Amino acid sequence: VPAPKRIGVCTGGGDAPGLNAVIRAVVLSAARLGWEVLGIKHGYQGLLDVSQTRPLTEPDVREITALGGTILGTTNRVNPLAFPAPGPGGGTVTVDRSGEVLANFRALGLDALVTIGGDGTLRIAQRLFEQGLPLVAVPKTIDNDLEATVVTFGFDTAVSTATDALDRLRTTAEAHRRVMVVEAMGRLAGWIALHAGVAATADVILLPEIPFDIDAVCRHVLARERQGLGYSLVMVAEGARPVGGEVVTTDVREAGHEVKLGGIAALVATQIAERTGKETRTLVLGHLLRGGPPTTFDRLIALRFGAAAVRAIQAGQFGSMIALDPPVMKAVPIAEAVSRPRRVPLDCDTVQTARSLGICLGDPA
Ligand code: F6P
Repeated sequence: VPAPKRIGVCTGGGDAPGLNAVIRAVVLSAARLGWEVLGIKHGYQGLLDVSQTRPLTEPDVREITALGGTILGTTNRVNPLAFPAPGPGGGTVTVDRSGEVLANFRALGLDALVTIGGDGTLRIAQRLFEQGLPLVAVPKTIDNDLEATVVTFGFDTAVSTATDALDRLRTTAEAHRRVMVVEAMGRLAGWIALHAGVAATADVILLPEIPFDIDAVCRHVLARERQGLGYSLVMVAEGARPVGGEVVTTDVREAGHEVKLGGIAALVATQIAERTGKETRTLVLGHLLRGGPPTTFDRLIALRFGAAAVRAIQAGQFGSMIALDPPVMKAVPIAEAVSRPRRVPLDCDTVQTARSLGICLGDPA
């Protein structure tokens, strides 16, 4: 008789449409095998405070495939390896609480963990795995900047939302003969800006991968003007920066959290207005890209990621991350997936297509 199995599942980092579909697939696949599933709430928080857990059975995951957010809650602030604690003299220090995570994992009677998250969550997962926690990771990021998987769930939804926004902004930009500068998420990689920008035929797309020359952008805007096209749509990734310049950050500073990017659209818009005399407006899409129901594509791959994670546990493939390598889902070492961010290759087909379509990517002349 096989030993009874009990697995945990948690969602960490920024949310992404499709998280609930992954949870559903994990719960139903595990139930088929006779395993129990415990939901760990708020990322790794539920493994530091065991009251933050809840059993998950079939009724708990009914009709959640199309639901945005995560029924387990998430956070990008809880790192058990560097947890803020009061320090001497009233300051704050960070302490390693991974021992508690392992002890709680055992106390909860868990045999394995499915951890769903992006770069930060996966790095923590790798360390917990090295310390003896049997886990399988499912990659998650709307930014699509994780190595080893060709795509993450949530990305397609974010691109669809951004494309829809650009389509809507085009008509008002045209009506007013304005330059609309639209900022999309994408800290390290410009996948969302590139895909939505090409799909919606933005006139300019600025990516973190190509430091931009504002003069090249302005020349493009003015060339359109001479062609009688008095408006332009500029799509800029939050992590884009001018040649020789820095990324633009907000003044939001949260302990143990990466610096928040934001504001590049305003900077670009101001410079375009100054240099071309054109009226400009900005829109930061921000968290809108993380909300709403996942697209059909994201629902399907999220369900596939969840089911594959349970199969990987069954096969004892701990320390691995499920990766989509079409047409298959495969298990790859987590360490490989977090080795470096997956940036947009400058020679990739979509970049070439953007250039062929006459879209300005801000390259210096
Ligand atoms: O990593 C995903 C992401 O969407 C980034 O593009 C963005 O900078 C970040 O999350 C914002 O996260 P939050 O505002 O939730 O801390």
